[in-house]
Amino acid sequence: MEAVDIVILGAGAAGLFCAGSILGEGGGAARVLVLDHARAPGEKIRISGGGRCNFTNLATERDRFLSRNPRFCASALAGFRATDFVAMVDRAGIAWHEKTLGQLFCDGSARQIIDMLLHRMRGAELRLETAVQGVSRQGDRFIVATSAGPISARHVVVATGGKSIPKMGATGIGYEIARSFGLDLVEPRAGLVPLTFAQQDLDLCRPLAGLSVIAEVSHGAGKRRASFRDGLLFTHRGLSGPAILQISSYWQPGEMITADLVPGVDIAAALRDQRGQGGRISPAVALTRWLPARLADAIAAVTGLQGARLADQGNAALDRLGARINRWALRPVGSEGWRTAEVTLGGLDTAMLHSHSMEVRSVPGLYFIGEVVDVTGWLGGYNFQWAWASAHAAARAI
Ligand code: FDA
Repeated sequence: MEAVDIVILGAGAAGLFCAGSILGEGGGAARVLVLDHARAPGEKIRISGGGRCNFTNLATERDRFLSRNPRFCASALAGFRATDFVAMVDRAGIAWHEKTLGQLFCDGSARQIIDMLLHRMRGAELRLETAVQGVSRQGDRFIVATSAGPISARHVVVATGGKSIPKMGATGIGYEIARSFGLDLVEPRAGLVPLTFAQQDLDLCRPLAGLSVIAEVSHGAGKRRASFRDGLLFTHRGLSGPAILQISSYWQPGEMITADLVPGVDIAAALRDQRGQGGRISPAVALTRWLPARLADAIAAVTGLQGARLADQGNAALDRLGARINRWALRPVGSEGWRTAEVTLGGLDTAMLHSHSMEVRSVPGLYFIGEVVDVTGWLGGYNFQWAWASAHAAARAI
């Protein structure tokens, strides 16, 4: 049987980075094998950030991550920071820019990040088109079952990602491996995903498909309140855009979300002021001060104020219109699911792992890193930063 020191399962962001870090951390003499069933490494990196890879976020803090244990990710994130990755990108001569909110993108192409990662791990062997089927323990070694036969290793790093976008090679193998060792999972579910809506909301959204506004979308109340001010996009299937993707990670079936289409402006009060100054125009026209005309028309229509004169409206009607704009309550019926989700929430329960090394507490030598673990970042480069940081923590320990 083929025998190596370290097998890394998955040649995605976390797996590639881990291999390079092991070699860089003095493991140069170790035989490191990276396995993936895909034809090419780093496929999600290649398509990320619209082809420019939003490779990290300068505002990385643990409160930007969802997990059953929100404190778990802090140790790995502190051990390898966004600025550490930026230094690496600079050394590789890759030009980058900050788009917004600390989000860093390549000026050129995501391919440059893949090339950098491959260059870093050139002392390791990358074996593609090899499917991982399972892992078992034999004495002080592991046996990795693959489509090309078994491989024996002293250390196994599971970096097989989550379930999002099966077309890109995502499988649930990481969860199966966890279960086979008796490890607990937090039920995986789709995150950073467009939400779908009932007919009544679709009737408003569909004719507006393609239109985008900056909105504040929120969910929950009190300590559990999450809120994002960002782009909201009307689509044929409902609503998308960064604000919706962000809130989708917090939303649970049956719950409501609220969209404020003109954050920071009390629309009912503003319309009352305008009414006091004459108000010969329609409410829809008055709204074009803050909203695109098509959206203003559509909202005036659903509140029964299309064609009316602002001057003829009582406070109750303007309050109704204002509420529809500042507190649009929506009950999503679902999400687009794994097909389009950018990430997988849930995964290996962090209680199973040492936070400084990502090593399984009950199985020394077995590590889980990246998206397969129950740590999921916001949109904006946080998920790659988690992949780098968790991979670095494991590499340092190995
Ligand atoms: P990843 O999914 O990258 O890698 C897992 C690897 O395991 C894959 O190569 C897969 O083929 C392999 N594998 C799975 N099952 C296997 C099996 N049975 N046998 C062998 N190999 C197997 N994040 C971010 O921070 N900034 C961004 O710009 C974006 N953009 C973005 C766009 C899109 C469209 C998506 C879908 C996702 C993003 N993300 C993102 C999220 C980011 O891509 C994701 O969080 C990381 O790729 C996770 O890295 P991992 O290495 O954990 O998994």
